[in-house]
Amino acid sequence: MTIADSFQPVGAPFDEVYSLYRRSRDEEPVFYSKDLQCWVVTRYDDIMDLLRDPVFTNEGTLSGFNYEPETEAILSSGINWNATSHINGVEGAEHQRFKKVLVPILSPVRLRAQEPTVRAIAAELIEAFKDRGHCEFMKEFAYLLPILTMFQFIGFNKQEDDLEQLAKWSGSTFAMWLTPMEPAEQKACALQAVAYQRYIRDKLNERRRNPRDDLMTEMVLAMDRGEIDLSEDELVLMYIFTFIGAGHETTMAQLGNTFYQLLLERGRWQALLDDPHMVDDVVEETIRYDGSVVAWYRRVAEDTEFRGFTMKKGEFVVMMFGSGNHDECKFDTPETYCPVRSNRERPLTFSRGRHFCLGAPLARLEVRVALEEFAARLPGVRLAPGQSIDMAPSVATRAIERLELQW
Ligand code: HEM
Repeated sequence: MTIADSFQPVGAPFDEVYSLYRRSRDEEPVFYSKDLQCWVVTRYDDIMDLLRDPVFTNEGTLSGFNYEPETEAILSSGINWNATSHINGVEGAEHQRFKKVLVPILSPVRLRAQEPTVRAIAAELIEAFKDRGHCEFMKEFAYLLPILTMFQFIGFNKQEDDLEQLAKWSGSTFAMWLTPMEPAEQKACALQAVAYQRYIRDKLNERRRNPRDDLMTEMVLAMDRGEIDLSEDELVLMYIFTFIGAGHETTMAQLGNTFYQLLLERGRWQALLDDPHMVDDVVEETIRYDGSVVAWYRRVAEDTEFRGFTMKKGEFVVMMFGSGNHDECKFDTPETYCPVRSNRERPLTFSRGRHFCLGAPLARLEVRVALEEFAARLPGVRLAPGQSIDMAPSVATRAIERLELQW
């Protein structure tokens, strides 16, 4: 069977996925997958060429499902998200317009300054289950650390805002994009998605009336003064999709993969306990070895030739970042987990080029702080025996659904 016929990485175990990627790199590094209904590209250098070429565009890569009429009616009482631009779905001058707003806000200096906040949240989460002797890491830690960090970054706080409710609304909004649902569930999620938008709009209005020292105030006032070129709908969706959305599931999954890989073989965790200075290398290696974003899409803007294949306008191409991260042409012994590497080529997990992830410094910081806080507070942590590791059914991410830990 050819690779094109057998390529089914979704939800498969780690070894299976990565040996499939390797077979593809060796035998068919570019192919059309009928199952995924798109072109698949698996070699590091080919992916880099794609990322550099504007014929492979982000325009039209992200849209929700087709919804039932009742759901559409609910959604139309809120912001039409398919007709509202956001940074990852635009190119050229439109992309620059969003970057001009976001680059200073998500600057590495500003993101790294979040360290005390991230550390306080991580510590509080661990203390809540520490005496119990066990936890379900994804739900009790990995889900909460990135979303609570981002809420604080924006200007929400637990004294005034129901953070649990906000997290639920965020989950429902993303489910509308990512998870096929029955009509009743779709309707319920649409109601929550619209309530979420209203809440954020109300908060922006409140900041107009009573300015504070927070990001919401800074942005809404700059918008009103014409200093940032955004509509109010774009600003509301920027909170939902760019600040909270882009960094939540991705970082949550990366935390899960990192802890799983480190605890899978006790020596990896012990090495970190013995030499805490290696933490940055550990973070970098798990982002390469078991990255949370293993694939990302582009659309073909006009008919083009790529490595001898004709790709037609409108077709989708999926760049297999996970495969590129294990490409033997870039990394020595790529299938070995090895934090100290002589050839530290940058992994593709955060993408490269014009759409490179603006939140990468924050994601790295969150993973590092999580490791440091667990190492300090629960050095004896280990995987609970006998559990099966199930992956969420997604092409773009490798995300563990449940991870039981003990100490
Ligand atoms: C481990 C965690 C994360 C991973 C693996 C990740 C990965 C990615 C990927 C693959 C893209 C798409 C790039 C493309 O289209 O080529 C992206 C874009 C983006 N990410 Fe992240 N991300 C993570 C966390 C974050 C966080 C915490 C934030 C904070 C807000 C964030 C903000 C963004 C933004 C704003 C973009 C759009 C950049 C653009 O289109 O110009 N990400 N990220």
